[in-house]
Amino acid sequence: MDTLALEATLPKKAQNGAMGALPGLPVPAKRKPAKKTKKAVVFFEVEILDAKTKDKLCFLDKVEPNATIGEIKSMFHKSHPQWYPARQSIRLDPKGKSLKDEDVLQHLPVGTTATFYFRDLGAQISWVTVFLTEYAGPLLIYLMFYFRVPFIYAPKYDFTTSKHWVVHLACMCHSFHYVKRLLETLFVHRFSHGTMPLRNIFKNCTYYWGFAAWMAYYINHPLYTPPIYGEQQIRLALIVFLFCQIGNFSIHIALRNLRPPGSKTRKIPYPTKNPFTWIFLLVSCPNYTYELGSWLGFTLMTQCLPVAFFTLVGFIQMTVWAKGKHRSYLKEFRDYPTLRSPILPFVL
Ligand SMILES: NC(=O)c1ccc[n+]([C@@H]2O[C@H](COP(=O)([O-])OP(=O)(O)OC[C@H]3O[C@@H](n4cnc5c(N)ncnc54)[C@H](OP(=O)(O)O)[C@@H]3O)[C@@H](O)[C@H]2O)c1
Repeated sequence: MDTLALEATLPKKAQNGAMGALPGLPVPAKRKPAKKTKKAVVFFEVEILDAKTKDKLCFLDKVEPNATIGEIKSMFHKSHPQWYPARQSIRLDPKGKSLKDEDVLQHLPVGTTATFYFRDLGAQISWVTVFLTEYAGPLLIYLMFYFRVPFIYAPKYDFTTSKHWVVHLACMCHSFHYVKRLLETLFVHRFSHGTMPLRNIFKNCTYYWGFAAWMAYYINHPLYTPPIYGEQQIRLALIVFLFCQIGNFSIHIALRNLRPPGSKTRKIPYPTKNPFTWIFLLVSCPNYTYELGSWLGFTLMTQCLPVAFFTLVGFIQMTVWAKGKHRSYLKEFRDYPTLRSPILPFVL
């Protein structure tokens, strides 16, 4: 009989050696009794300090280790009702980046007494409201100039129409662009952030509304002169504009399909069966590339200096964003395709 078989037949006490060793048999190793209790949960203590003054704003006792930053924000909100979760920025470092709502307490580099820093992001407004305001503005403002409502041009031109067909075409293209953007905001984009600071809306609206008014004033002006190369230039411009609008829409659909509804997932975008998305092989943010193309087309069509200026400013802004997004892709995904540039293939 081997030792194991003997162990199974001996009374428990004898197996554990409590009766002493039986003669001629090896002494069985002393066993620890099996743990029946669950592993004790280690709760966290969380203190939240003001990122500027370092004053203690809140102390949370017995926080579950698997609590998320989103949940901590809700707890903080209870003691400070003026700071609802969307306007809170919670950081590990007073000057560092905001933590994500889905970050889990026990996975953060903090001890069981965690210190976080809070910054007030200011009053928030939903992204959808922001986009609708930003895009409905240019649409309506442009139309006011197109219909030559009173107090814009000399009274004799009130509610008159331009004799140049390019002016009507430009109005159709401009309106199409902003209606498309409004519809995409409502039905295509799956945003990861619900809100943005209210103050941004003033900045963004000044930009979009101001440029729309400036461009529309000149294009619809009674003394406007059509492009020098006439119909040929307008036709080419229209092709460029429409091509880029379809391209931009295709990229928005491809980005939408990367993110399951209700999630905040970010994935590497790749070309799909739609040829307009093949530009993903060379560019990280092709929606911006196509956006630039659309405005270049519109500049060529109207041959209007304010439009060229709007295109340039938009290009600079989108380049800054595209570079940031490109850097984030490289940081986030090790296998990110190295051939891609942020906005212009091989150039920028
Ligand atoms: N003319 C101009 O001056 C100008 C300037 C800027 C934009 N625009 C136009 O407005 C459009 C939208 O601008 P945007 O800055 O919001 O574009 P964006 O940052 O590229 O985002 C478009 C949508 O796709 C999502 N998305 C982006 N990358 C993703 C990824 N890797 N995985 C999953 N989802 C992803 C975004 O979600 P998130 O919420 O997570 O970002 C957002 O819902 C542009 O394409 C352009 O047509 C025009």
